[in-house]
Amino acid sequence: MWNETAATRLLKIAYPIVQGPFGGGLSSVGLAATVSNLGGLGSFGAHIFSPGQIGDIVAHLRERTASPFAINLWVDNADPAMAQFDQASFERHVERLRAHYATLGLDLPKYPDRFGQNFDEQVEALIEAAPPVFSFVFGIPSPQVLQACRSRGILTVGNATTVEEARDGEWAERGEITLEAAAKLIGVCNMTALRMLPRGDIKGRQACAGAPWVVRSEDLAGFAKGKRRKPPLTQNATQRVLDFQ
Ligand SMILES: Cc1cc2nc3c(=O)[nH]c(=O)nc-3n(C[C@H](O)[C@H](O)[C@H](O)COP(=O)(O)O)c2cc1C
Repeated sequence: MWNETAATRLLKIAYPIVQGPFGGGLSSVGLAATVSNLGGLGSFGAHIFSPGQIGDIVAHLRERTASPFAINLWVDNADPAMAQFDQASFERHVERLRAHYATLGLDLPKYPDRFGQNFDEQVEALIEAAPPVFSFVFGIPSPQVLQACRSRGILTVGNATTVEEARDGEWAERGEITLEAAAKLIGVCNMTALRMLPRGDIKGRQACAGAPWVVRSEDLAGFAKGKRRKPPLTQNATQRVLDFQ
């Protein structure tokens, strides 16, 4: 049948149709559940919602559909510009809009306790709620998060916005990382990691000589725990050992 594809088999849906998630509060349980009930993969963009709200959204979707659906989060949802956005800046902007609030008879907004959500807290709630599918955009969750999803039976779908992100996502799916990421994980410089690979100190593989090294993140688990600091070369307590590339 034309509609039976690798995607429909994997996602357990009737048609290879994924409804795009809408972040910013524009998704609705009704639309996502309807798409799922009709055989596609309904999606709910939840990046602005708190961990508690994510649990409620999953519960509401479960009430409306027995078919697979996806919850979508932004992995990198930190806005660097917001770090500079203090109460004084907030009030300056509100002041500009004061006349419009008055015309509409609305109270002026209060400076919020926080702007935006924390992805780590959101994804913890998502894993707890265990929707059938977790789709993500703007980054790739850590190997630990992807592993937790696998063990809870949550399928993961990465939306790639660049070629690099598509490649990294494919690697993450196989639990693989680059040499640079491996070096960072075990706390050595890239050059040291490169020397450790052919010696077998780190397990890795290359598609052919000269190709990029591929390392499985689970093979580095022991390293992270056993990471040693080099002892100083002399008794001088202020001496530091630096790694050079
Ligand atoms: C208002 C709006 C909000 C969106 N929010 C998200 C989002 O939170 N997460 C996501 O992965 N994609 C998001 N997208 C992308 C859509 O899900 C979809 O992939 C994109 O619009 C391409 O599909 P189209 O050609 O049918 O519009 C958003 C798109 C729009 C228009």
